[in-house]
Amino acid sequence: MEWSSDHLRMLDQCLLPQREVWLELRTWEEVRDAIRDMAVRGAPAIGVAAAYGMALAAMSGAPSSFAGDGSCPENEEGIGGAALSGAYNGLAASRPTAVNLVWALDRIMALPSLTFDAILAEAQAIEREDLAMNHKIGELGSALVPVAAQILTICNTGSLATAGHGTALGIIRTAHQQGKVKHVWSCETRPRQQGLRLTAWELLQDGIPFHSIADSVAASLMRAGSVDLVVAGADRIAANGDTANKIGTYMLAVLAQHHGVPFVIAAPTTTIDASIPDGSHIPIEERAGIELTEAEGIAIAPTGTPVYNPGFDVTPGDLISAIVTETGVHRPPYSFR
Ligand code: MRU
Repeated sequence: MEWSSDHLRMLDQCLLPQREVWLELRTWEEVRDAIRDMAVRGAPAIGVAAAYGMALAAMSGAPSSFAGDGSCPENEEGIGGAALSGAYNGLAASRPTAVNLVWALDRIMALPSLTFDAILAEAQAIEREDLAMNHKIGELGSALVPVAAQILTICNTGSLATAGHGTALGIIRTAHQQGKVKHVWSCETRPRQQGLRLTAWELLQDGIPFHSIADSVAASLMRAGSVDLVVAGADRIAANGDTANKIGTYMLAVLAQHHGVPFVIAAPTTTIDASIPDGSHIPIEERAGIELTEAEGIAIAPTGTPVYNPGFDVTPGDLISAIVTETGVHRPPYSFR
């Protein structure tokens, strides 16, 4: 995504890899819808988008001559008020699990001056800082990657899901640059197929050797000794290390424990929610059943099929061998207070 004078440009991840379409978002409501519909997804990217959404809200609350060119007169209070709190609430409710969303919104609201210029500058700082954190995570996490590693990952945690480089995929990227990656197993990630559509897209661009696999292949790969390390991202990490991430992550952690494979979570500290003691407090998004019952708009289940479709699950901290943030490699027992 990128800010372009008076709007937010965003690669529509719903259409990848078949079509590379850039959305032009001009209101905070459009940003909210893009987050809800997953045109942008991945915890850090959602946070960055929400911050830009606040800039758009500030812009629309400004005088009509104001076009983001720095011409708007600033004052101590800035624009503030109802326009921004409406945007805050609307954006915060767009996806509940990734804490980066509310973290970014709170950071904007804590600005001493809620002018468009100040909000835009803060959104850009959030984006810049996320990129820097990901490179640090890649550097620190790559130390956990053995030579000739066979790495299994889930969902998409790469450039698309962040400001760039990625978290779990960032570790894979850095380790690949160091010549340590023999092979990546990329879980398809039912039902939205972020692995099959998006991680494959990124891995191909970087020339990293991989196979996409159906999610259910993970167990037999581990049993065959074909996985040396599992690395996954996070949407919210509780104070005790319990970690919400894409549905299916917990299953991988249980499998990894059973097969003696290290299971690593990679996330910036902006994904840590120290206000909650454990994972039972993490809100888990439930998404529409249509994500399961239809493929490419075609019904694949009998009409009337009831569906339970949680977007995330929680992996207990004691199943996680290490949590890599930009501040270091954390080991259990975790305490992020
Ligand atoms: O539903 P999504 O695609 O937003 O879920 C994304 C994940 O679960 C990622 O692993 C997580 O947000 C970390 S992205 C760096």
